Amino acid sequence: MNQHTNPDREARSILIANDRGGYTIPTEGLYPYQWNWDSAIAALGFAQFDLDRAWTEIETLFTGQWEDGMVPHILFHQQDEGYFPGPDVWGCNGPIPSSGIIQPPIAATMARKIWEQDTAFGDARMKELFPKLLAWHRWIMKWRLDEFGAVCTTHPWEAGRDNAPDWDNSMARMDASDVGEYQRRDTSHVNSDDRPTKFDYDRYIKLVQIGRDAGWDQQALLSLNPFRVADPTMTFTTLRAARDVLMISEKLELEAEGLSEDIEKLESGARSLWNEDLGSFDSRDAHTGEMAESISNASYLCWYAGMESDRMLKGLKSVLETVPYPVPSYDPDMPKFDARRYWRGPTWAFMNMMIGFGLADMEHAQQAEQLRQKTAELISGYGFAEYFDPKTGSPAGGQAFTWTAAVWLHWAGRA
Ligand code: GLC
Repeated sequence: MNQHTNPDREARSILIANDRGGYTIPTEGLYPYQWNWDSAIAALGFAQFDLDRAWTEIETLFTGQWEDGMVPHILFHQQDEGYFPGPDVWGCNGPIPSSGIIQPPIAATMARKIWEQDTAFGDARMKELFPKLLAWHRWIMKWRLDEFGAVCTTHPWEAGRDNAPDWDNSMARMDASDVGEYQRRDTSHVNSDDRPTKFDYDRYIKLVQIGRDAGWDQQALLSLNPFRVADPTMTFTTLRAARDVLMISEKLELEAEGLSEDIEKLESGARSLWNEDLGSFDSRDAHTGEMAESISNASYLCWYAGMESDRMLKGLKSVLETVPYPVPSYDPDMPKFDARRYWRGPTWAFMNMMIGFGLADMEHAQQAEQLRQKTAELISGYGFAEYFDPKTGSPAGGQAFTWTAAVWLHWAGRA
């Protein structure tokens, strides 16, 4: 372990170094563009020392919003040869070159937090942002719901948990034999044992090709896309965002018709992801109805979405007691657990923070505090890595990572 003696200073320097002027890259090399949910987390970090810059981060993200309300998962503000698949592979026509999928919609929730930090400062900017947040919410309600009201991910990258075991069955059913030759870039920046396998990558690229060939026409993709999984990340974050958008509309007296009904629909969708045998919220393949049988860190976002669950709380308490550096992205007792491989085991600090927000909101102050302290121990002991081995704390993936720095400034490092 390498003690980081002044993590506050280090965290600020990381945000400043990753700032590309109005937006922040997740980390140099591996992720050289603006990522959607990373940016929302970055804004929370900036809000600790530069509130104006925090707002700008989110505003820049929405400059990439498509006419129909969609907010892309990556904005390619400037070309970088070190990343694949770039704008030419996605073939999109938004206002800024971008990918053709979204990411979990956490921008409304984080924008609400920075607005509440100083409403006098933020009122005008929130009024400006509000219709954009609402349009994105409506886009998700139109294109991503399954028949139960749960929110689907149409690409493993869309849920932001790229190689989670949640997608294994759905991915195994896909044929990617005609994906063709391509050159991965991620494994030239970091250790390939920490990254998704070739089997997964072929399917990620195949799904991009399917979307591009359909001109990203969502109506057509409902039947063309072989991958459609209702998942706790998309469902819980959409539900939480809807609650925040509603609350903002009430405070600022802005029009938000239909939001209460949407919230009810999303609540029943969230309940439909409960897997009784597993004792956890789980993912469900929207094409086959099959549950994934996966207890992930996204399962523990139920409180973030305002959903109480005694069994999830019991599960979380046990994770906090038994896993040295919680919360693992996948249950360590399950055979597919892999301590270093991305979303199949490692702990992600920003997911901890969102779980912590939910716990605090739902009056589980003790667990929220325990999780905050353990996350602080992890970051101050092992640095600002992309993710960590939950058993040893050992850092993995990219280094000097924006969202880990933001988590430190906003939450973990604030005793
Ligand atoms: C990876 C993560 C995703 C994140 C992106 C940039 O793809 O799985 O959640 O947004 O990297 O950090």
